Amino acid sequence: MNEALKAIYDRRSIRKYKPQQISSEELEAVLKAGVCAPTGMNRQSPIIIAVQNKDDVAYLSKLNAKVKNFGTDAFYGAPTVLVVLAEADSSFAVQDGSLVMGNLMNAASALGLGSCWINRAKEVFESDEGKALLKKWGVEGNYVGIGNCILGYADESPEMKPRKEKYVYYVK
Ligand SMILES: Cc1cc2nc3c(=O)[nH]c(=O)nc-3n(C[C@H](O)[C@H](O)[C@H](O)COP(=O)(O)O)c2cc1C
Repeated sequence: MNEALKAIYDRRSIRKYKPQQISSEELEAVLKAGVCAPTGMNRQSPIIIAVQNKDDVAYLSKLNAKVKNFGTDAFYGAPTVLVVLAEADSSFAVQDGSLVMGNLMNAASALGLGSCWINRAKEVFESDEGKALLKKWGVEGNYVGIGNCILGYADESPEMKPRKEKYVYYVK
């Protein structure tokens, strides 16, 4: 089968990770796929923040869980979090950022890495704590959180969830 299609078909949301960190080659390859995503009018509204510092990953997970008031690790033990944000004043922010997220997850699958979109980036980076994190990371500008792509070596291999019957309509 075509390798690109295989990576897309094989991608699953992974919610259990081995503790070891991914290699810097793997990280760079996934990030490059994110940067290759198309953007509205080529304005390139998104940014990607690759977070691997253990304390920052743990803190980000805590902020994320706080939005929904749950006590567990929102990132399922994944050692890398790719935070995708986009320029808040761009009318393409959600579309651009979501395509970046898709490319990141499909690239992860192509490399045999586990990934999952973790939501609530919007709420986290609207909060004072989230804004303080961006400042600490040296990110300047007005950004809206789109999603968190967690990454790591999968410690589970879930089956594909069935898709609904009437997903595709053909008009011939
Ligand atoms: C916009 C979006 C938000 C998501 N948020 C979360 C989340 O916060 N936590 C989580 O465990 N999975 C999250 N997911 C993963 C979905 O639950 C998952 O894609 C869906 O169940 C289908 O499974 P699959 O990705 O293995 O095909 C999210 C996915 C998308 C696209």
